[in-house]
Amino acid sequence: MKVAVLGAAGGIGQALSLLLKNGLPAGSELSLYDVAPVVPGVAVDLSHIPTAVKVAGFGADDLDAALAGADIVLIPAGMPRKPGMDRADLFNVNAGIIKTLAEGIVRNCPKALVGVITNPVNGTVPIVAEVFKKAGTYEASRVFGVTTLDVIRSEAFVAELKGVDVSEVKVPVIGGHSGTTILPLLSQVEGVEFTEEEVAALTPRIQNAGTEVVNAKAGGGSATLSMGAAAARFCFSLVKGLQGEQNVVDYAYVAVENGDAAYFAHPVRLGTNGVEEILSYGELSAFEEKAKNDMLETLNKDIQEGIDFMAAQ
Ligand code: NAI
Repeated sequence: MKVAVLGAAGGIGQALSLLLKNGLPAGSELSLYDVAPVVPGVAVDLSHIPTAVKVAGFGADDLDAALAGADIVLIPAGMPRKPGMDRADLFNVNAGIIKTLAEGIVRNCPKALVGVITNPVNGTVPIVAEVFKKAGTYEASRVFGVTTLDVIRSEAFVAELKGVDVSEVKVPVIGGHSGTTILPLLSQVEGVEFTEEEVAALTPRIQNAGTEVVNAKAGGGSATLSMGAAAARFCFSLVKGLQGEQNVVDYAYVAVENGDAAYFAHPVRLGTNGVEEILSYGELSAFEEKAKNDMLETLNKDIQEGIDFMAAQ
C-alpha cells in the first residue's frame, strides 16, 4: 500500500503523517510531498519511529516521484482559515493548488483513491473531478471529500452532552463541509434522545466547530490535530476497503447521481475500487429535512464555483 500525503509539512499534514506512520499496515510506503523546504526533515523525523512503514520526503519539484504508483492520495495542501474568514474565502488560493496536484495524480497514479481535505471541500472536490474528466481518467468512485472531522466532532460533542461512552456513539453527518451545509442526523443516533432545544443548540455547534478552533487559535490557523485524526481514520477505512474487507462503511462527500446535489456526503460502502455503493442516509426528522432543503442553494453554488473555475482554464 502506498499512501501519498500532499501538503505533508503543514499542520494537518504532519499530524496525519504521524498517525499513518503508526497505523498503516506493515510494508506500506508513506510518501510525503510539500512545497515547504522542511518536508525532507519531516520524513527523516518520522523515519526514526520504529514501525514497518517506509517514509520518503519529496520537495516542490518532485511531485511526480511522490505520486508514482500511489494507491491512496490525501490532500491537505493549501491555506487554512484565519479569524473572520469563511471557508469560501479560501477558494481563490486553494483552487489553483488543487488543480496542479490533481494534474499530478492524472500523470502518475490515475487509479488512486483521492481524499480531498483542502477547503472549501464543497468546491475543491468538483475541481479534482473536472481535472480527471478533462484527462479522461475520471471515476466517481475514487474521489472523496473528507468530511470525517464533522463526524468525529459530532461523536465527541454528543458524548460530552449526554455523558455516554464516546466509543459507542455513532453520528451520521450528511451534506457538505461548511456552515449550514454540514448536517448531523441527531435523530438517528442510537440509544440517545435529544430534546428539540438540544437539537437546535447542538446542530449549529457542530456546524461551527471549525470556527471555534479558528477563534481559539487566534490567527494561528484552523483545526490540525483533530483533522489529522479524522483523515487518518478515513484513510484506514479506505485501506480496509482496498484490502477486500467486507462491509466497510464510512461517511464522505462524493459525486451522487440523482441525489440532493451533484456532490453530497453520504454513508458509503468502501471496497477495492473505492466507493462500492452509495448508501441511503435514511429517514430524516422534520428539522433535518428542512435543514437539508435550506442548505442546497449554498451547496449548489459552492459546487458550481469549482466547476466554473475549471471551465475557465
Ligand atoms: P498549513 O498552512 O499548516 O499547511 C498547508 C501546507 O500546504 C503547507 O505546508 C504548505 O507548504 C503546503 N502547500 C501549499 N501549497 C502547496 C502545493 N502547491 N503543493 C503542496 N503543498 C502545498 O494548513 P493546515 O492547517 O494543514 O490546513 C490545510 C488545508 O486543510 C486548509 O485548506 C484547511 O482549510 C483545510 N482543512 C480542512 C478540514 C476538513 O475538514 N476537510 C479541516 C481543517 C482544515
